Parts: sequence; structure tokens; C-alpha cells
Amino acid sequence: DDLERLADAIRRADTAVAFTGAGLSAPSGVPTFRGDDGIWERFDERQFASDRFRRDPAGFWTDRVALHRAMFDEEYEPNAGHEALAAMGRDGNLEAILTQNTDGLHGDAVGAGGERTSDGEPDAAGETETTVLELHGNSRRVRCTDCGNRRDGDPIVERAAAGELPPTCECGGVFKPDVVLFGDRLPDAVLRRARSLARESDVFLAIGSSLVVEPAASLPRLAASTGATVAIVNLEPTPCDGIAETVLREDVTAVLPRLRELTVA
Ligand code: OAD
Repeated sequence: DDLERLADAIRRADTAVAFTGAGLSAPSGVPTFRGDDGIWERFDERQFASDRFRRDPAGFWTDRVALHRAMFDEEYEPNAGHEALAAMGRDGNLEAILTQNTDGLHGDAVGAGGERTSDGEPDAAGETETTVLELHGNSRRVRCTDCGNRRDGDPIVERAAAGELPPTCECGGVFKPDVVLFGDRLPDAVLRRARSLARESDVFLAIGSSLVVEPAASLPRLAASTGATVAIVNLEPTPCDGIAETVLREDVTAVLPRLRELTVA
């Protein structure tokens, strides 16, 4: 069947790449952005735009605390989908995980041995490990807009929640969540690395993403245009379904563990 053929393609591939979105973390209790219960039904994207941050950092942080609570308040952990991708990486069947998610769950699943980077540069230990490339940054960190230092985000979010608006660094600079905001460009190095992995891939697996925003909308096409087999795992149709060899409209936690089993069978 479809899944067996996909597993076979992954096994034969020199380079298989997974590209993930909010649907992968939905079974972990992190809400998706679009759809009826989506974050953008409850919040206005413009509240979190980079020009809002510059104009009104205090108001931005007030809204950011609410967003943070809506997205990450529960104890959330990697689900069977994250674990299956991490296992495929350890098996040597998955070169890289490119993610739009900022929840840090791929890093948790891959564990300390894996390469985790948001800036596209390999960590020292990361040579042969699965690359986790966080295209939109990581919500668990903040970055000072003046000195550039990165910091664990939770205590800073708590400071904002307690009324420090906006939270500031010792250097006096304002902290910003270490994520790509609307109106921010993706860091060049990250985008370059994502594109080159898409081009290099023989199998490109898009998982749990509506594939409507950039670069999500164009990475599967780029992969297909350079000869990759594209497969899509998503509950709803996407604009890229037409270029995909395989489209599986099923829950990630059902598909991915089965897929992993088949790749090692
Ligand atoms: P979306 O919310 O746009 O899409 C999530 C997709 O996952 C939907 O098409 C669902 O059908 C699907 N889905 C939900 N649960 C699923 C499950 N259990 N199994 C399989 N599929 C499931 O999320 P993204 O595509 O990730 O950007 O959104 C892309 C970007 O838009 C986000 O990174 C964010 C947002 O604005 C920034 O914050 C910069």
C-alpha cells in the first residue's frame, strides 16, 4: 500500500527530510494556528507582528503572555509522531527535521545527542546526528534586542506576567521572544540551509502543516522540482497535494509510528 511504498522510498533514499508544522504537536496538546480551534481564531496575528513589538513592546508582551499561556500552559511532551521521527533519525533513515514549530518538542524527542540549532549552524557534536532546524525559532527562549544574548524564556515570560512590561535585559535592552514574528524575515542562514536540504532530498515528507505560509508553501515544490518524492501527512487537504506522490489524511500519531516500523522491517 501507500505507506509501504513510502517506507521503501525512505529506505532507499540517500537523503530523506521531514518538514513539520503545528499538526504534529496537536496530539501533544499544543493548539494549531488555523482551523476552528486555531490560535488565529482567538488572537489577531497583528498583535504579534514585529512592527507592533517595535511600536508598543509593553502591549506586545501583555498579548504574548496570553498567547504563551494558550499554547504552552499545560505540561506538554513529545508524542508518538515526534518519537517516530527521532527514531528514524537514529536508524539513519532521516537526515533532517525542518520544523515551523517553536515548541521545542523535536529537540526533546531527539535528545541530547542530536543537533539542535535555530541558526542553521551545526553544533559541535552534530555531525552525524539528525539535524533539527527550527525555522521559526524557539518559544522557550528570549533574545535581547540590544546585546543579542539568548536566555531561557520561561522566567522572562513570568516576569512579564508579573507586570514587568516589557521585560528587559541587564544591558537595558528589551527582550524579544526568540521566534520569527510576522514581518520578520527568516534568518538567511536558516532559509539557505532549509532550501539546500529540500533540494538535496530524495524523499520530502511534509507533516501536519497547512502549507499555506512561506517558506512552507514553496519547500515541497522546491524538493519536487529537484526530483524528490514528496509525501504529505495531514488531516486536511493542502495546496501541495497535487505534487505529492503520497497523501495520507490521517493522524500523525497513527501514521508515523507505522511508517517507522516499516522502514526497519
Ligand atoms: P496550521 O495550523 O496552519 O496547520 C496545521 C495542519 O495540521 C492543519 O492543516 C491540520 O489539518 C493538520 N493537523 C492537525 N492535527 C493533526 C493531526 N493530529 N495529524 C495530522 N494533521 C493534523 O499550522 P502550520 O502549517 O504549522 O508561524 O502553520 C504555519 C505557520 O503559521 C506557523 O509556524 C505560525 C503560523 O502563523 C509563525 O508563528 C511565524
